[in-house]
Amino acid sequence: MSDLYINDRLPIETIDYSRIVSSVGTPVYVYSAQKIRNQYHLLRDVLSAAPGSRVSIRYAVKANPNLEILRLIQQMGSGAEIVSGGELTRALAAGFLPEQIVFSGVGKSDQEIIAALAAGVDQISVESLEELHLIQSIAQSRNLTAPICLRINPNIDGGTHEKITTGLGDNKFGIPLPQLNDAIHMIKTSSHSRFLGLSVHLGSQINTIAPYTAAFKLLGDLARTFLSKGLPVKRLDLGGGFCVPQRPTEPPFDMSAFAQSLRKELGSLDCDFIIEPGRFLVAEAGYLLTKILYIKKTLDKTFVIIDAGMNDLIRPALYGATHPIISCEQSLDTDQQIVDVVGPVCESSDIFAKGISLSKTLKSGDIVAITHVGAYGASLSSAYNSRPLIPEVLVEGDKFYLIRDRITVEHLLKFEHRKLLS
Ligand code: LLP
Repeated sequence: MSDLYINDRLPIETIDYSRIVSSVGTPVYVYSAQKIRNQYHLLRDVLSAAPGSRVSIRYAVKANPNLEILRLIQQMGSGAEIVSGGELTRALAAGFLPEQIVFSGVGKSDQEIIAALAAGVDQISVESLEELHLIQSIAQSRNLTAPICLRINPNIDGGTHEKITTGLGDNKFGIPLPQLNDAIHMIKTSSHSRFLGLSVHLGSQINTIAPYTAAFKLLGDLARTFLSKGLPVKRLDLGGGFCVPQRPTEPPFDMSAFAQSLRKELGSLDCDFIIEPGRFLVAEAGYLLTKILYIKKTLDKTFVIIDAGMNDLIRPALYGATHPIISCEQSLDTDQQIVDVVGPVCESSDIFAKGISLSKTLKSGDIVAITHVGAYGASLSSAYNSRPLIPEVLVEGDKFYLIRDRITVEHLLKFEHRKLLS
């Protein structure tokens, strides 16, 4: 197996990796602004053809919540999909208007619901009858009207990794179909909620259209049922989940087929559409630049030990994700060796690639890039082993900007103390 692609130089836009490494050090996340823009335009162009131009994009902030990344995406005209009060704060700080924000999540707290209503978000995607009850009573107590979308649990298999599937009956997400009648009754009998429509999100890294088509058919049927019960569906929120392949042999997500299916199944409905892409917009834009610390040879293995750990990028350990690893140094020789690429963290699962072939000339001090890490890379990182949260850099044309400092243990120690509470 070879997931490693040798490259003699790694330009990110026009910037040579070595300039970034010498000014910021390693490990560091680097994002290409142009790549994010290209993905956004691609998505917008494909979707503007179907149906009409009634599809609006709400970027899933959790994929990469860095303020500069959010600003970049907001400036292109996207809205935001958030799942916490913290993401609400970030989205507003980045310039998203409340009327561009949809709020999902199965466990919204009282404080988060109050904050969202006070900010005037466009949509709250309600994930249970219990949550609907709470939102309505909070809205009533403040004399507000909550904009409600019911997130359904469609019991559709997105065919993706079990840890990132969300549309199955035994997943915690969405309202089970048999409970929708109760939801309709609750909405019709409260004057403190405004019904917008239905939402669905099947999971992440979905690479076939069939699950989406099944969800569209279901949503179409439900829209007709809701109408017959006196609740017209004015909006369908179709979620995100579009796959970004990490191996050159995997086909890309067929966005045109997605748009076609949307047009065919739902185009005749009198409603607007939302999609909530996260990974699709930012994954390929991100590189994790990391330095080789040691090439460690044991009796039967060679370990390439790098200075990035699972705390910086947890996707391989958590989901068995295989991110390509590129050598940034000149290593055009064909002499290869089989290695495991591992991090310095004290966990056996701190592995980025197992049994890949890599140039024999690589040595301690060389830089490698782990690619496709713009989504769920920095956003899922931690300071485990008291390691720093690593810096983030944005490349725009011939310039690069530090967009998050390295957050060190010295910073974090400031929050630890012995304060008498009672
Ligand atoms: N909308 C909702 C309601 C979601 O829960 C998510 C992702 C999205 C949209 C965006 O999905 P995307 O287009 O990025 O696939 N940490 C995992 C992915 C978890 C996704 C959680 N929800 C990973 O690293 O693969």
